[in-house]
Amino acid sequence: MREPLESRVRERLRALEQNQLLRTLTAPAGIDLSSNDYLGLARDPRLCERMIEAVGRDGCGSTGSRLLRGHRDGFDAVERRFAEFKGTERALYFSSGYLANLAVLTTFPEAGDVIFSDELNHASLIDGARLSAARRVVFPHNDVQALRRLLEVTPVEGQRFVVTESLFSMDGDTAPLSEYASLCRSAGALLVVDEAHAVGVHGSRGTGLIETSAGSADVLVSINTAGKALGVAGAFVAGAAWAIEYLIQRARPFIFSTAPPPAVAAALEASLDIVISEPERRRLVMTRARMMRERLATAGIPVPAGFSQIIPVILGDNERALAVARDLQRQGFDVRAIRPPSVPTGTARIRIAVNATISEPTIDRFTMALAAAMNVSGPCCVVSS
Ligand SMILES: Cc1ncc(COP(=O)(O)O)c(C=O)c1O
Repeated sequence: MREPLESRVRERLRALEQNQLLRTLTAPAGIDLSSNDYLGLARDPRLCERMIEAVGRDGCGSTGSRLLRGHRDGFDAVERRFAEFKGTERALYFSSGYLANLAVLTTFPEAGDVIFSDELNHASLIDGARLSAARRVVFPHNDVQALRRLLEVTPVEGQRFVVTESLFSMDGDTAPLSEYASLCRSAGALLVVDEAHAVGVHGSRGTGLIETSAGSADVLVSINTAGKALGVAGAFVAGAAWAIEYLIQRARPFIFSTAPPPAVAAALEASLDIVISEPERRRLVMTRARMMRERLATAGIPVPAGFSQIIPVILGDNERALAVARDLQRQGFDVRAIRPPSVPTGTARIRIAVNATISEPTIDRFTMALAAAMNVSGPCCVVSS
């Protein structure tokens, strides 16, 4: 007889609990060292005012999909603004980065095509590739030579797509975008770059890492989330006009979903104003990130090589990561244990996300608390990845 669903689900939940993989929903508490609000914009009064004003004018809900009654001039305006900022012909706004990645990978790659995907890509890129009719080939993380070989030996009838994050969300390291761009040029492949954690923070204009390492001409489309450094919600897919037009016509996550509340477009205009006019915010994030990395290493805490605002402290087993996180939370630091499937098994970690509001004394206090929780002392080297 078939096992009742409830027993099966209860069994699955028990297994999660036994393996220290059961999640709890915990509201923010303490100093923020875990959110993606890198520039500290989520509570900025200028964004809040613009959003409140827009709710008063446009109401709460958009009432339909963008292709029906859910469209507003505000979406057009902010998409034009984002495209200009990113240096692409057009941009299209989605209600989340997850949906934007599903849209890109289920719309452009077709049967007969192959998606070459970095092994550490975000779940939304993995799911997009799985939903796509194209074949998926996973390449070792950031490994240009392995990708070159795979591009050479994998039989492909149609297009080749290379898909990567520019700044990896759980490891804080960066993809070799210039090498990928020249590889794609010589192999006739198309590069898709998820700039979720780079947009707003990296690049001299704050547009992300494509700006410094590849150039938009080498990228088919980029995905730029707006709920992280931009402090609001959603994501912009940016690229050539023909590519964006095709998403509007064919991307199911865009077509078959209610448009986001119109007020988010107004808040995003305010956010882009700040990213453009206050470059000191992103410089501060970088200064604090460097400081955090140095302090951790001095305290004997192994820190992977890199420069970004995302600093993983890898603890290995789930129980240890949970214990260290709880210890730090008790001392007023909001850090979370990151466990599989968000990261590979055996690499549970504390993911420190440095934002512009973290002060130097906080970094010192946090470093001491983390060293005590991990039971380490003395200087440590930087671990090369
Ligand atoms: C690399 C990456 N891409 C996409 C997403 C999804 O974006 P969103 O949270 O807007 O759905 C995330 C979210 O964590 C991410 O880290």
